Order: sequence, then structure tokens, then C-alpha cells
Amino acid sequence: MNSKRDHGGLDRRGFLGVGAGTAATLPLLSSLAGAATPPPAPPPDPRAATNVTLRINGQDHRLAIDPRTSLLDALRDHAGLTGAKKGCDHGQCGACTVLVDGTRVLSCLTFAVMAQGREITTIEGLAGPGGALHPMQQAFIDHDAFQCGYCTPGQIMSAVACVQEGHAQSDADIREYMSGNLCRCAAYPNIVAAVRQAKSEMEGA
Ligand code: FES
Ligand code: FES
Repeated sequence: MNSKRDHGGLDRRGFLGVGAGTAATLPLLSSLAGAATPPPAPPPDPRAATNVTLRINGQDHRLAIDPRTSLLDALRDHAGLTGAKKGCDHGQCGACTVLVDGTRVLSCLTFAVMAQGREITTIEGLAGPGGALHPMQQAFIDHDAFQCGYCTPGQIMSAVACVQEGHAQSDADIREYMSGNLCRCAAYPNIVAAVRQAKSEMEGA
């Protein structure tokens, strides 16, 4: 029995117009088509390292980092400055506070690439050239303004800015403008006393 069905004289191959010669040229045609329209380039890898230069405590640090790296991670994991602490990594505790151009910022919420060309100060850069403690550091010692010390670098950096901003005019002021720095050891009364003492010394009173 003939398995071909009668379609008015056309079989499937004839209907498609694919003869032996045509079939032989198809690979060539498809490769020519491929050459004309190259496949799209893959999207850039967002994790690919980018080179940044951060000026930290008066020194340039050249780092190759994922552009999504936070300033806190750049400081701790790439520049080897572990003074700023990671408490929450969500902008809620203040343990990661550093100064950028003299303004306090939460380094866990700041991209490192955004800090290029700015002057970054961490707790490691606060002491004087001879290692003399900053008045705020000394005041924290004098008033025993810490227990475990985990929040202390952030407290001190924030307190320095608090005084420089003119936001340490009273104890209530200090509590208000230091309220972004949490202390789970609850050393708050001693911290307020330390800021009050350092303010006098920083202002030469
Ligand atoms: S670690 Fe940045 S605010 Fe808590
Ligand atoms: S001294 Fe322990 S968290 Fe502040």
C-alpha cells in the first residue's frame, strides 16, 4: 500500500520546496544569517570588581571592590580598618558611624563608591599624630562611658560631630542628637557626661 497521501500531486517535501539542493544550502544560509546578526552580548556582571580610591584618615586606599559594597564593608573587609562596627547593617544602631567630610554617616547604608573624593574619618584616625587621644576618647575613658565597648567607636564619632554641629548645648540636646546611637549596655548617663566634658575641651572652654 502506498503510504503517501494524494494532495493534488504535492507531497510534503514538494510543498515546502525543499529539494536535495535546497537542503544542502540551508546550513550555509543559516550560518550566513548568524554572521549578520551576532548574538547579543551578555549583560555585565554586577559583581565584577571596580577600582575605587578612598581617602581614609588622610591616606589613599586603592581597592578593587564589587560596586555594591557598603562603605562599612569596604573599611572593615578591604581596608583592614575594623574600628567601625557592624551592629544591625540596617541603619538602626549607629555602631558603624564614621565621618565623611566632617558629617556623620551610617557607613552600612552608604555605598563605598559614593565616598570617592571625600575625606573619610574613622575611629582609627581620631587620635593625634603622636597617639594623643582626642578629647572625646579621653572623656569616654574618664566617665567610664562604655561596658562591652561594641557601640563605642560609633558613639565617639557621632559625639564628635554632635559637638561640631552645635548640638551639645544641653544634656537634653545631647540625648536628642545622640539618639541614633544605641547602647545595649545602657551606658547612656555616662555617655552624656562624657560628651559634656569633651565639648568644653573641644571648644576650649
Ligand atoms: S550597623 Fe549601621 S546602623 Fe547599625
Ligand atoms: S557599651 Fe556595650 S553596647 Fe554600648
